[in-house]
Amino acid sequence: PQDCYILAVETSCDETSAAVIKNGNVVLSNVIASQIETHKAFGGVVPEVASRKHVESITLILEEAIQQAGIPPEKLSAIAVTEGPGLVGALLVGIMAAKSLAFALDKPLIGTHHIAGHIYANQLTNEILYPCMALVVSGGHTELVLMEKEGSFKLIGRTRDDAVGEAYDKVARALGFPYPGGPYVDKLACESEEVETLPRAWLEPGSYDFSFSGLKSAVLNTVNQHRMRGENEFHPAIARGFQESVIEVLVEKAVRAIGETSAVQLLLCGGVAANRGLRAALSERCQKEEIPLLIPPLVYCTDNAAMIGAAAYLKWKNGEFSDLALKAEPSLSL
Ligand code: KG4
Ligand code: ZN
Repeated sequence: PQDCYILAVETSCDETSAAVIKNGNVVLSNVIASQIETHKAFGGVVPEVASRKHVESITLILEEAIQQAGIPPEKLSAIAVTEGPGLVGALLVGIMAAKSLAFALDKPLIGTHHIAGHIYANQLTNEILYPCMALVVSGGHTELVLMEKEGSFKLIGRTRDDAVGEAYDKVARALGFPYPGGPYVDKLACESEEVETLPRAWLEPGSYDFSFSGLKSAVLNTVNQHRMRGENEFHPAIARGFQESVIEVLVEKAVRAIGETSAVQLLLCGGVAANRGLRAALSERCQKEEIPLLIPPLVYCTDNAAMIGAAAYLKWKNGEFSDLALKAEPSLSL
């Protein structure tokens, strides 16, 4: 069979990214322009600013991705793009660029789900076996997804309030770190010798859902209590306590979900999959329970277009193409 080359585009939040992926798992290029420095000044992503930055970068990023891949555009098999979920204005920039290219080059267009992308990031370095369970932890999502076969997604648990990454970013802010604060909290937590005891939200027995807003509030209250007592050196213990609480619940629920389904693999993914503490704790627990665990390398955890190319390849194999009426779907479900 002929090789498949997919040019993928991702602009759902604050990264402008384009990649060329061969046969669903060989990364020929993966160019990412981060807007973090721009949004830092505002303490979070400003949607309107994100859209404008995407517009400024998209052409260069596309050119760079095609050039680095070293294949002529005529040789591309399809153009893939994140259609949702995400910020509508940000998604639109990628979609417009992908549509224009698909039209100009006369190639099929493949609208791709952002979370399917995070999950299939694992395919870039490992073979995914079915049925499997995905633990999706990002800035906007915290979900347990059972995949009975390729391309099938069954949501068995989700956050009822904040996503893990969102909780990390809010806690980081309270501790005085810039946006996005997840990596700072991770580092501080890993270095701390002391632990502040903080609550865990298990919810009803048997539930695979998550809740992190109570924990977040507990952190904010504890920070205030320390401040009122005039204490200064409390940040590491809070970071450690917060991280331990998050990790314990995520690991416990994911491992239980594996035990109670026929899943043969656990896939970790999303921006928070870059968390050192989570990677270590989940690896250790899965080793003990003899659960095969896949975790993408760091570059494929946070938003990138390579993962969109990996997910789009499955649609390409099945001839599932979109037409030029493809729309941005800010709250697209899996
Ligand atoms: O997947 P992603 O790049 O964007 C979304 O689709 O949301 O995830 C970004 C999130 C941010 O909240 C960021 O703070 C968090 O991932 N993050 C981390 C770490 N690296 C990134 N959270 C905890 N520890 C980390 N090392
Ligand atoms: Zn993401």
